[in-house]
Amino acid sequence: TAPVIAIDGPSASGKGTVAERVAAALGYHYLDSGSLYRLTALAAVRAGVALDDEVGVAELAAGLPASFVGGRILLSDDDVTDAIRTEEISAGASKVAALPTVRAALLARQRAYRRFPGLVADGRDMASVVFPDAAAKVFLTASAEARAERRYKQLIAKGMPANMHALLQDLQERDARDAQRSVAPLKQCDDAVLVDTTPLGIDEAVAAVMAIVKR
Ligand code: CDP
Repeated sequence: TAPVIAIDGPSASGKGTVAERVAAALGYHYLDSGSLYRLTALAAVRAGVALDDEVGVAELAAGLPASFVGGRILLSDDDVTDAIRTEEISAGASKVAALPTVRAALLARQRAYRRFPGLVADGRDMASVVFPDAAAKVFLTASAEARAERRYKQLIAKGMPANMHALLQDLQERDARDAQRSVAPLKQCDDAVLVDTTPLGIDEAVAAVMAIVKR
């Protein structure tokens, strides 16, 4: 079977950017597992299915007409790359991700991304549940303050309104929900290597992960 590099960590830790860069450096495929939870939430909102309707949401998750084409994310023929990043859908993704049946419905789809020459997968439970036999496991984190500041800068750069205090509070709430849910709570696996990116720039974070992958 093809090797997997599992990169887990909290919201805004830089996992996505780092995972994508590591995948490019290795010539591996890349799975952004969070986008599947986001797509599920968006599909539910569009279909008028309540986000706490576990059976209804799981049915949508199982049949998600999602495709990833050249950096864009499609739901059927609709480009939803930006639509899945709104605050509403971020909160919705975090809600549907707490439903065990929904997580189970997305499991096979995530594992299907494992192809030669290899896969870099980022999320919350890549090392613990989806790819427990990963060749390398990284837990990428940063202080809540550093993560809130990064998100703040991203929003300002896009010309969007941003409030540091609100962002920090939102991150801390999402951290708590991710850590306290009953299925696949966010935590560092015993066999994962911790990378704290609080003092690191993106190039340094990528280098730190590459050093773990190569050892
Ligand atoms: O930007 P952020 O890290 O918050 O989002 P994301 O990685 O796109 O994940 C969206 C939501 O899906 C989060 O609220 C996570 O709790 C959830 N998720 C999960 O439960 N398991 C994963 N493997 C990936 C994401």
